[in-house]
This record gives sequence, C-alpha cells and structure tokens, in this order.
Amino acid sequence: MYLTAIEEEIQSLLAEQDPTLTSFYGMMRYHLGWVDENLQPIKAQGGKRIRPLLCLLVCEAISGDYRPALPAAAAVELVHNFSLIHDDIEDKSPRRRGRATVWQVWGVPQAINAGDALLALAYLALHRLSAPGGSPRLVAQATQILNQACLDLCEGQYLDIAFQERTDVTEKVYLTMAKKKTASLLECAAHLGAILATRKKRIIETYRGYAQNLGLAFQITDDLLGIWGEKERTGKVVGEDIKAGKKSLPVVYAFEEERRRGLRRLEEIYGEADLDALLPILEELKVKELCQERARHFQKKALEELERTGIDNRAQRHLRDLALFLVERRF
Ligand code: IPE
Ligand code: IPE
Ligand code: MG
Ligand code: MG
Repeated sequence: MYLTAIEEEIQSLLAEQDPTLTSFYGMMRYHLGWVDENLQPIKAQGGKRIRPLLCLLVCEAISGDYRPALPAAAAVELVHNFSLIHDDIEDKSPRRRGRATVWQVWGVPQAINAGDALLALAYLALHRLSAPGGSPRLVAQATQILNQACLDLCEGQYLDIAFQERTDVTEKVYLTMAKKKTASLLECAAHLGAILATRKKRIIETYRGYAQNLGLAFQITDDLLGIWGEKERTGKVVGEDIKAGKKSLPVVYAFEEERRRGLRRLEEIYGEADLDALLPILEELKVKELCQERARHFQKKALEELERTGIDNRAQRHLRDLALFLVERRF
C-alpha cells in the first residue's frame, strides 16, 4: 500500500514526454529500478524505500493519515537516489542493487547530470505540498528542512572521502560523519512526516530523535554488510570499502584496538591490502561483535524515543518493526 503510493508519486514526477529526453529520463528510471539498461520495463529493483516509508509512517502514526506526506516522501527518496548516483561515482562502485551503476552504463558526465536532475526533481516534488489547501508556511519550512539535510549529507560525504587518507579516525569522529552522511536524511524524512501531521514540538523532536538513532544503527549495519555481507543479497561489491581505504566502523575499531595493543599491522597494509588479507586481523580483533553491539545500542535508543511519544497504533508498530528490520537485515 505505502510502497505503491510512493512509486506512483515518484513516477508522476518523472513522466517527461519530450522524445529527445527519453534516454535522459531513462537513466533516472533505470536507477530507480523500473527499467533495464535498454530502458525496457522490469520487475521493480529499486531499493528498500525506507526513507519515504519512514516519512509516511510518522505522519500516519501522529495523524492517522499518511497521504498528506506523499510529496515529502517522494522528495526524500529522490534526494537519496541523487546521493547514491553521485556516491557510486565518488566511490568508483561498479554495482548497486544487483546491477551496474549508472556511471558504469552511461559514463560519469551523464551520471552526474542524472543525479543533479533527481535533486532538482526532489524540490519540485516538495512544491506539491502547496497544492490547494496546503500552507505556504509549511512548504517553506519543509524546503528548509530538506535543504539542511542535503547540506549535511554533502558534508558527511566530504568527511567520508577525506577519512580515506587518515588512520587516526576515532569512533566519535566516525559518528559525526555517519550522522551527516546517512542519519540526517532519515531524520529529515521523519521530521517532514511529523510537521505535516502536527505542530506539537515535543512529538516532532521525539520522532526526529528516533530516526537519527535509527540512521546511525542503519549505517553501522551497512558498514558490516560491506565486509561480512553476501553480494547476492546486498547487490554491491563486498570488500569495496576496505579496498578504498574507507574508515567504516569495523576499521575504526580495528585501528583503535591495534593502537591499544601496540600493534601496527593495519597501519602498514591498510589502503593497499584487500579483504582476504585484512579479514583475519579484523576477526582476531573481534570488531564485528563490537559493531553489532553498537548498532543494537542505537537501535535501542531509537525504540526508546518511539516509546516516549506515547503513541500506539498500527503505523507506530510498523515503525518499531522498521527499527528491528534495519539492524537484522542482510541487504
Ligand atoms: C544505502 O542506502 C546508502 C546508505 C546510506 C547506507 P539504502 O540501503 O537505503 O539503499 P537502497 O535505496 O535500499 O538501495
Ligand atoms: C552512504 O554512502 C551515504 C550516501 C550515499 C550519502 P556509502 O558509500 O557508505 O553507502 P553504500 O554502501 O555505497 O551504499
Ligand atoms: Mg558507496
Ligand atoms: Mg560513499
């Protein structure tokens, strides 16, 4: 129900008719999982859509109706997909969602264009909130919230890439980066869903807190899947983060643990070695377990925030299930 409504909302924004632009919109439609490389329709393969789901569920949990949040949900998912197309260029990732990435198929320049267009479409999506009956105050507020999240995301991506050259990244610094690159957009999704349902500050802030903690648990799980996941399930290349010298949380913990033990094994090989060489070290340092514990810590905090709202209905139960799924997931 929610997923169909989300797809319909996004599809209506990408309904460009000009035949000279068919292949441009085709790239976006490919990335969103609706068509193959030849732009022929396929069974949907476009990602989990957790951000729009979060937006709709928060709106429904508070107000009993998810529909007012559909434009915002579409906007957040479009921003997410813009960031993924650019992220795959930045990370030189050849695969996403079990398929070749946009830059692999159409080249970097056109992939940049497709990503930019999705970002612009996100703001057009948000403008639908001003349809008859919509409040201009809310549209302005929603635009500011989305813009702030986009800025945070870019700052987070900057830090993520800058950290590739460093070996002294601490957990605290990692969390600042993860909060910006990932949690801020999940928080934005919940924030938008909430302001479209209520003006009660306490409720809005509590759902934001839920989503931010969930975002951190989610990114730590993504880090774990990048090392210990199965490519058939994640649809991405496993071990890619390590090869690029990324400071995902398992690696941050591994460096911290080696320093504590006076070892320099990682210092000497990290950034050049592949997963096979590093895996035995990571396993010996037991960083997988540490990260799982950390993901569960943020998941617990998210669930506590949810409780604090005092709301209990079907959408709220979905939000609880989402927090459970996002940490246990294998894709
Ligand atoms: C992947 O996000 C990028 C991160 C922020 C970790 P998702 O795992 O939500 O990606 P899709 O949309 O489901 O493919
Ligand atoms: C996630 O980046 C954050 C954004 C895309 C903004 P990652 O590089 O960690 O995520 P994946 O693993 O490629 O999806
Ligand atoms: Mg990436
Ligand atoms: Mg990245």
